[in-house]
Amino acid sequence: MSNAQYWIARKGQPLQGSLVIPGDKSVSHRAVMFAALADGTSTIEGFLEGEDTRATARIFSQLGVRIETPSASRRIVHGVGIDGLQAPTAPLDCGNAGTGMRLLSGLLAGQRFDCTLVGDESLSGRPMRRVTGPLALMGARIDTEDDGTPPLHVHGGQPLRGIEFASPVASAQVKSAVLLAALYAEGETSVVEPHPTRDYTERMLAAFGVDIEYAPGKARLRGGQRLRATDIVVPADFSSAAFFLVAASIIPGSELRLCQVGLNPRRTGLLHALRLMGADIREENPAEQGGEPVADLVVRYAPLKGARIPEALVPDMIDEFPALFVAAAAAQGQTVVTGAAELRVKESDRLAAMATGLRALGMQVDETEDGATLHGGAVLGSGTIESHGDHRIAMAFAIAGQISGGEVRINDVDNVATSFPGFDALAGGAGFSLSTG
Ligand code: S3P
Repeated sequence: MSNAQYWIARKGQPLQGSLVIPGDKSVSHRAVMFAALADGTSTIEGFLEGEDTRATARIFSQLGVRIETPSASRRIVHGVGIDGLQAPTAPLDCGNAGTGMRLLSGLLAGQRFDCTLVGDESLSGRPMRRVTGPLALMGARIDTEDDGTPPLHVHGGQPLRGIEFASPVASAQVKSAVLLAALYAEGETSVVEPHPTRDYTERMLAAFGVDIEYAPGKARLRGGQRLRATDIVVPADFSSAAFFLVAASIIPGSELRLCQVGLNPRRTGLLHALRLMGADIREENPAEQGGEPVADLVVRYAPLKGARIPEALVPDMIDEFPALFVAAAAAQGQTVVTGAAELRVKESDRLAAMATGLRALGMQVDETEDGATLHGGAVLGSGTIESHGDHRIAMAFAIAGQISGGEVRINDVDNVATSFPGFDALAGGAGFSLSTG
């Protein structure tokens, strides 16, 4: 990923209007994967045209699956059946996508052929033993670098067996990797989590006709089942909407409507956290889309106050901390985050990246091993921010720029296209001052 692009963010207008947020990244990855493995043809509506999810679609083309793109955000996937994938002739490039690589490691562990999963610089530094460990217990053979990072060399033709896995980490990616390998394993596999995480794999496998038992924090399935093609509607991504929820909450005079956003309860921790801080967010026009709850979110400026974020909320808002930190900058008083050490192994070390960036703008942030104390309420100044190629760090500081008294330069913003293509245009249309250099 090149470092060519930067943004200059400064105070803009109060945010106004109705915004349509792109499709959910987690759901889009899984929709392509499961449709590819199904018997029959599936249509995906609302597919996220991001680099991460396109990388996953490209990988399935390499594995012999025909995928049509009749128009933007639509895919027609001609499934090849659970045992129909073909050996690829080149490494499979997951780009920046941890979800892509970790879920694929489970899915590919059960194939007859060998393959190699590679990623970009950020993904190449991320921990993979959290998935290769439990997969090895099932009989899989996956080699990593000595420090447990990619590339992953997956050795095919290994007979897999079901396990009872008590995951040490609250991670939907780990749970999903094990459940996907379980489709190819003899006997039953169960996963128990230390805290419930997003359950899209479970819900969507059920939608594809798999007999799977699940409840918050646990899932169980029997190997040897086939998937039946189905049509998937992808809801708007709450994690992308999150940036606008925070921005409209902290920019005086703002009122935004975010249309039909996915509100899976395992994703919406930020709503609770912002409301604890005094945010004014209403849910209107509730409906169901592709089996997921959705609603319009109407957010109005409100003066925020600092809060202690309950640790129980952390897994439900794991991708939202960059945005939350900016809300904490605008809030009066201290915001305290604990129990969030997982943030250190995301697309960047998000605790360090946010703390360093906010300090560069003049804010006091006391970083700890698993969180931070943020001293809010001071006016932010000018400064230069390194996004570390992390889409969510870049977008968070685009918001910080809107409440700064100066000019915020954000380096290395190309990666925003991994999850939120068109963010800058949408934000600009709503009132942001954000120019590209
Ligand atoms: C995801 C799970 C989370 C999240 C990521 C998407 C998923 O990661 O941070 O953006 O789609 O399963 P972890 O499972 O590592 O917490």
